Amino acid sequence: MIKIAPSILSADFAKLGEEIKEVEQGGADWIHVDVMDGHFVPNITIGPLIVEAIRPVTSLPLDVHLMIEEPDRYIEQFAKAGADYITVHEEACRHLHRTIQLIRSFGVKPGVVLNPHTPVETIQHVLEDIDLVLFMTVNPGFGGQKFISSVVPKVKQLSDIVKERNLSLEIEIDGGITSETIGLCVEAGATVFVAGSAVYNQKDRAAAIQKIRTAGEK
Ligand code: DX5
Ligand code: ZN
Repeated sequence: MIKIAPSILSADFAKLGEEIKEVEQGGADWIHVDVMDGHFVPNITIGPLIVEAIRPVTSLPLDVHLMIEEPDRYIEQFAKAGADYITVHEEACRHLHRTIQLIRSFGVKPGVVLNPHTPVETIQHVLEDIDLVLFMTVNPGFGGQKFISSVVPKVKQLSDIVKERNLSLEIEIDGGITSETIGLCVEAGATVFVAGSAVYNQKDRAAAIQKIRTAGEK
């Protein structure tokens, strides 16, 4: 069973609560929350206040993707705001293992994100310590970009390591996921799929989620 995680980045922020309820009722598995600081990525989005505000709106896991420099400074705030998963970029962490431990110390599931150019080897020594690896299939910063297919072999590489080492890890894909691109990623071993524009830019969100899921489970 694959999981679909609509990204609220493409939702209507003037009615965020309703937007989240709509995808929950429409069959979403997780809610993906994109946090950007204007330094690590060229865009600014939301902070812990919004995570706290949406926490009571949904019973789905909140998957908080931190696209920020020095994430250690904000992990406590996002944890207390109600994040279920916190993912940090390998490229943004000088002491990745310490950051992972910090996330875990607040009872939150830690994950690591790899930009399109970052090799799987960079995280091979922390795989036992995390619950999730997130592969960026666009350059982080904006919704609605084109899927970068050269990332797919990295997904397969990790999925082989997971089997070999008998790890229990979710493998998540973020960026450009549609009913066209999901199949390749499922084949490569991914289990969770972020979809921003492919869900929220559609009138019927339930139908959009169903369409992506069906394409992934084919
Ligand atoms: C990009 C974000 C994504 C974004 C995906 O920096 O991390 O989560 O919302 O949007 P789509 O699905 O439109 O590519
Ligand atoms: Zn994201």
